[in-house]
Amino acid sequence: MYVCVCNALRERDVKAAARAAGRACPHAAYAQLGARVKCGQCLPFAREVVSGASTHA
Ligand code: FES
Repeated sequence: MYVCVCNALRERDVKAAARAAGRACPHAAYAQLGARVKCGQCLPFAREVVSGASTHA
């Protein structure tokens, strides 16, 4: 499933990026993927995704 349509970021990639960044933060995860927040519509779901990622790290 896509988390961020603007950057075409998938849930599994955002989770992995948050783990790699060591932070449960959508901005850090997106930066890890070479992307950045544009419209911001994805942020509530992205926060859920990365907070799930941090508990499973
Ligand atoms: S959907 Fe993620 S920045 Fe627009």
